[in-house]
Amino acid sequence: MNDRLAQLRADFARELDTVRAEADVTGLRDRWVGRKSGLLTAEMKNLGKLPPEERKTAGAQLNELKDQIEAALEKLQRDFAAVREAEQLVKERIDVTLPGRHIAAGHLHPLTLLRERIEDIFVSMGYEIEDGPEIETSFYNFAALNIPANHPARSPQDTFYLAGEHGKTLSLRSQTSTMQIHAMQKRRPPLRVAAPGRVFRRDTPDATHNPMFYQVEGLLVDRGITLGDLKGTVEEFVRRLFGPDTKTRFRPSYFPFVEPGAEIDYTCFKCHGSGCRVCKQSGWIEMGGSGMVHPNVLRGVDIDPEVYSGFAFGLGLDRLCALMYGLDDIRLLYENDVRFLEQFT
Ligand code: DAH
Repeated sequence: MNDRLAQLRADFARELDTVRAEADVTGLRDRWVGRKSGLLTAEMKNLGKLPPEERKTAGAQLNELKDQIEAALEKLQRDFAAVREAEQLVKERIDVTLPGRHIAAGHLHPLTLLRERIEDIFVSMGYEIEDGPEIETSFYNFAALNIPANHPARSPQDTFYLAGEHGKTLSLRSQTSTMQIHAMQKRRPPLRVAAPGRVFRRDTPDATHNPMFYQVEGLLVDRGITLGDLKGTVEEFVRRLFGPDTKTRFRPSYFPFVEPGAEIDYTCFKCHGSGCRVCKQSGWIEMGGSGMVHPNVLRGVDIDPEVYSGFAFGLGLDRLCALMYGLDDIRLLYENDVRFLEQFT
């Protein structure tokens, strides 16, 4: 029996040596320890033919050999699995130093970027941002703003009226100053509101005009507010927008809803006042209109002008945006040409 075992052991060792692929392991297992026709299985069956005194040791030895064979096969199988896994890892390896694929992402419109900057400044100065209707009755668009019945701004040459039966009274707002009225109706003083939004005028489009454009209106009402507060506020506003050395200048002007009224200029953000292309060599850039809220306007929304006073100022975003980004035509802002918009990431 010992010779037989040695023979089996040697045979198995030789065959084990010939294994080259994982599938060979399965073949070898079937051949040696397969349940039906395995070589060892057959040897076990033959145990019964041995004399009983040999049977026990022979059985134990065969079992031991079987265990060794199975262990060897299992180890081989594990080795193959490890190699397979290593190959897989190499195949799936990612080179993190390769440049990424470009993902085209959208970004904000230059007018939106500017509006958000301005909103942030207003918020930092204690103003609440308000949104309001773009279609207005003539009360909000004109009467409540102290614009007389015969004022040219009311004419259909200047203002877009709606078609149909409401056309006499409903129009697209021509300035965000309408938001002064909404703000004062909605809340009582003290109040601080900033209202950005679109406005509409019957202008022929050219490099500096578009029938739709953006304005931001600022309004503050409280007890004892003076022209000094307006000047100080506007000055702080332009400093936060353009830098701490920015200066302002007020030129007397007329707007029906303020008294007194003034136009605001600020020193050019490019040349800081010395004169350049952006400010057309003047050193100054026009910002917009402003003034102390007219007593008629306050009375119209049941605020007593003997108790309260306030100031308002409004600025246009489109021309400012064009100046800041060096555009020579504000219509570019509305053409939505991606090749143009892509520059403003
Ligand atoms: N709404 C005016 C315009 O569109 C600008 C303006 C002037 C706004 C005076 C104001 C103001 O708040 O007080 O031209």
